[in-house]
Amino acid sequence: MSRVSPNVHWELGAVTRAQREERNQHPALVVWLTGLSASGKSTIATGLEQRLFADGVNVARLDGDNVRHGLCGDLGFSHEDRTENIRRVAEVAALLHELGHVAICAFISPYRSDRELARSLVPPDRFIEVYVKCALSVCEERDPKGLYRRAHAGEIRGFTGVDDAYEEPLDPELVVDTATLDATRAVQAVYETVAARLGAKASAQARAAD
Ligand code: ADX
Repeated sequence: MSRVSPNVHWELGAVTRAQREERNQHPALVVWLTGLSASGKSTIATGLEQRLFADGVNVARLDGDNVRHGLCGDLGFSHEDRTENIRRVAEVAALLHELGHVAICAFISPYRSDRELARSLVPPDRFIEVYVKCALSVCEERDPKGLYRRAHAGEIRGFTGVDDAYEEPLDPELVVDTATLDATRAVQAVYETVAARLGAKASAQARAAD
């Protein structure tokens, strides 16, 4: 399928990403959190956003539960719809990156090929994949929205981890296991990895917080 309509050309702006990055004093980045429902992606994304914002970083957060109310409100949870969900979000993340932001994305994003697509849309050193790892049994115990219970009762079909696949990342930049790390430590682990990539500005704050 062609992704470009005929007679459509890319419009170059007069302000470059490099200029934005220079003014922001940090490079743009996509931080991609993947993991089962209730693994802690949203909690980590929110905590990370708060820390980076406090550092003066230009940060934006995209979350599955929010995006599915609007931009992806027409999509369900079939394989095809999840792929389209991630494709749209990956494109938004790439646009945010082009605008100089650190884009934090929190999506189950269960399929490897979809995450690889997201990675391919920005330069290789601008993508951090974080596997928010958590044993299915722990996620099922947490079950904050009661969705695992409903999936086991047969009320929801194709629920990730129950009767739909989750393909674990093979080579993520970082793995945080939220079955063993509490939220503060999990946020800290991701923050340190991101701060190292952002360079002087954020990492000075990271050292100050030690
Ligand atoms: S993804 O698979 O397309 O990446 P996404 O992260 O946007 O999923 O949305 C996941 C959220 O949708 C879950 O946290 C959960 O609240 C809700 N949800 C509803 N139905 C399902 C389902 N069948 N599988 C997984 N999550 C679901």
